Amino acid sequence: MPLSLKKRAQLLNRRWLPLAVSLLAVMFALGCYNSTTGDANIGDSINFKLPALSETGSNRVQMFTEMHYQPSHRVQDVPRILPPSGSVPITGAEVVLSSLDEYKGLVNPGIGPAAGQELYRVNCQVCHGQTLDGNGPATSFLASGGPVPADLTGPLTTGATDGELFGLVSCGGRFFCDSVLQGGETQSPMPEFRRLLSEEERWALVAYMRGLIGGP
Ligand code: HEC
Repeated sequence: MPLSLKKRAQLLNRRWLPLAVSLLAVMFALGCYNSTTGDANIGDSINFKLPALSETGSNRVQMFTEMHYQPSHRVQDVPRILPPSGSVPITGAEVVLSSLDEYKGLVNPGIGPAAGQELYRVNCQVCHGQTLDGNGPATSFLASGGPVPADLTGPLTTGATDGELFGLVSCGGRFFCDSVLQGGETQSPMPEFRRLLSEEERWALVAYMRGLIGGP
């Protein structure tokens, strides 16, 4: 019977462990590993490079897989950890446009605001506030110097078409929208909701916001 993948991995681990441990023992005994540069050698004839402390910012020799040895990344830190690119929801992939301009012409496919109120309370209110004026409780915790939550009752947002609002919610705000849609960086704390909420949920949010802020 062929070995299961798990079993094979276990065997491989067991085979490597004594070798790795003795290699390290020899190196530390001879004092020939420089943890700053990662240069290691045994005798004068075998030279190689191990991960260096200053390069990885974590463990001296990365042979341990426990998470506390790995560089840490705090919740809500940017860059935000999102589902892997190319992940597809079970309802199917969505057509992704490559700039905010292209979203402007989209029309709400008939989804009403009913679900939008609760979606807004859970996903948006913490930053944009109960009255959509951009004064949510999270504003005092956001990194200083970064973009502040937009006042969604201002002319820029009220003047946006439904399609544009849908695009803004999908890509995570206006400033970095095109960059995000083209696979680039964002410095905005607003998440890309196309990765977190379904198309239907985002249209319900658009309908909900439109009801409160009026239209172009
Ligand atoms: C972590 C904070 C945060 C959360 C949560 C958040 N936003 Fe934002 N949002 C921002 C920031 C900051 C900006 C301004 C920067 C920008 O536009 O790129 C912004 C911008 C926007 C804009 C663009 C306004 C304009 O006309 O330029 C819209 C629309 C918007 N948010 C809607 C939403 C909606 C709807 C939700 C919930 C689904 C939401 N935001 C959740 C922080 C947040």
